[in-house]
Amino acid sequence: MILVTGATGTVGRELVRCLPADVPLRLMTRDPSRVGDVPAEAEVVGGDYADPDSLARALRGVRGAFLVTSRPGSEDDAAFLSAARAAGVARIVKLSAAAVADPGADDLITRVQRDNERLLRESGIAWTLLRPRAFMSNRLSWAASVRAEGVVRALLGDAPNASVDPRDIAAVAARALTEEGHEGRVHALTGPEALSAVEQTAQLAEVLGVPLRFEELGWDEARAQLLRRYPARVAEALLSSARRQAEGAKARVEQTVQEITGRPARSFRTWAGDHAGAFAPAAAEVTAEA
Ligand SMILES: NC(=O)c1ccc[n+]([C@@H]2O[C@H](COP(=O)([O-])OP(=O)(O)OC[C@H]3O[C@@H](n4cnc5c(N)ncnc54)[C@H](OP(=O)(O)O)[C@@H]3O)[C@@H](O)[C@H]2O)c1
Repeated sequence: MILVTGATGTVGRELVRCLPADVPLRLMTRDPSRVGDVPAEAEVVGGDYADPDSLARALRGVRGAFLVTSRPGSEDDAAFLSAARAAGVARIVKLSAAAVADPGADDLITRVQRDNERLLRESGIAWTLLRPRAFMSNRLSWAASVRAEGVVRALLGDAPNASVDPRDIAAVAARALTEEGHEGRVHALTGPEALSAVEQTAQLAEVLGVPLRFEELGWDEARAQLLRRYPARVAEALLSSARRQAEGAKARVEQTVQEITGRPARSFRTWAGDHAGAFAPAAAEVTAEA
């Protein structure tokens, strides 16, 4: 039995789609009623890192687990690992982050990921670490202004990032959970090229067939935007991470997706094409404006 935590999240949802159909599968979420599109044979279980009994239930009979945590300052990883040890879990594949390997990255989120990686390595359970660069899906945060105004507003127009399609992270996770040979390995995951926000905007415009304008945000504007979505310490961590991008620390391209899955990592253009609907004005709005 494989347990997928974060099964309603960006990567976990894709992982559920790409695990082989004959693998017994259990999806964990705090609210099972919110899980859509579950493979017929999969179980859905209620589980919360803050509730040890729910973790014990979720982990009963589980051999391999995909671990996603995202709350800095929580004990989520420690709680999960303790329950996993008690349940006899043999293998954990953890979603971490590429910045962990950057000696110049010292923001809160990266420090927490480093600590959590250490907990897993010291857990006695066979581990695999996935360290993705920025998810291409972060660009969905551009959708509202693209739809409404044909404008992308972002920090750092020219700084490159080798961002990765979450479907490729999921494909590597599926291999690591179901094949031998991934234990004790760190998989650094990127897309096929490093693009700046200006270059991504140009590709998105081509894919959508509409002109888009890029407006670069200053640091204060970016901070104000982040503070509308995140607590202050998380917003500061994201700004600090952006500074590493400005310094060129996020441009390196890895071949891991190709090496592990046997096919090239998806490009931003492909991701944008597959998500064009999110950026296109709704049919009703187009008609109303015509
Ligand atoms: N975005 C990026 O560019 C990027 C880059 C590198 C690494 N990462 C890392 O990727 C991870 C986030 O992955 P993601 O984007 O796939 O996730 P996500 O879309 O942010 O979803 C978070 C998931 O965590 C689950 N969750 C939240 N609180 C929980 C709790 N108390 N107990 C159990 N489950 C809980 C949620 O499930 P329910 O709400 O259904 O319970 C949800 O499925 C983070 O560790 C982040 O640092 C992100």
